[in-house]
Amino acid sequence: MRNIKLPAHIAFIMDGNGRWAKRRFRPRSFGHRAGVQNMTKLCMHAYRLGIRIVTVFALSTENLSRPKEELDELFDLFRIYFGKKRDKLTEMQVKINVLGDISVLPEDIQEEILTVTRETAGYSDGLLNICINYGARQEIVRAVNTAVSYGRFVDEASFKDLLSTSGIPDPDLIIRTGGEVRLSNFLLYQAAYSELYFSKKMWPAFGRRDLERALANYSARDRKYGNIEDD
Ligand code: IPE
Ligand code: IPE
Ligand code: MG
Repeated sequence: MRNIKLPAHIAFIMDGNGRWAKRRFRPRSFGHRAGVQNMTKLCMHAYRLGIRIVTVFALSTENLSRPKEELDELFDLFRIYFGKKRDKLTEMQVKINVLGDISVLPEDIQEEILTVTRETAGYSDGLLNICINYGARQEIVRAVNTAVSYGRFVDEASFKDLLSTSGIPDPDLIIRTGGEVRLSNFLLYQAAYSELYFSKKMWPAFGRRDLERALANYSARDRKYGNIEDD
């Protein structure tokens, strides 16, 4: 991965866990478990390569309408990830930030999340944003209501400060696995000039080499921000 232009901030829409499991004749929860393992592996690889900020879409606001059985399994995974397996998370020396409304989660998980964010607050090797019950439209509406309640107009800079990503630069590259070509309510405001990369591979099967391929593809892109090429 030498001589390539790395994104400072990469985001993953980790889609395809359920289909990955189904193809193996296993329950969806098996796919989610493999998905969490892959997330840890790929985040570590991203930091090792020199990427400073990683954001992962773990659960959308709309995902909360999935059957209770699946949600309970996902909550169990969060419980393990933020609780028992916390060592793995904290050994990275990466600051953990959770974006989204976690008040819908069982209380014990909310507490584990608060502990992890507190424990890692001083870490500076990188930043990991985990989006849980996150929805971009809801985030934007909330920000507008906050501005209204303050009785003030906003400009781009002050509006950004009202979003849950306040202080975090926009993602340079968003990778979605699982074959769907859409954002599914992820970082709609912040993605204005993000480069998008779609992979047909299901999330648990998206490996280190796939990430490197996506990074090489990103590196070759010409980000013009509406301007003309200067050569
Ligand atoms: C993404 O995988 C993980 C979550 C949304 C929690 P899916 O669960 O959407 O897997 P597919 O898309 O059904 O294969
Ligand atoms: C997007 O995947 C959300 C996450 C990866 C957490 P979905 O599976 O929910 O997206 P849709 O329903 O295919 O748009
Ligand atoms: Mg999906």
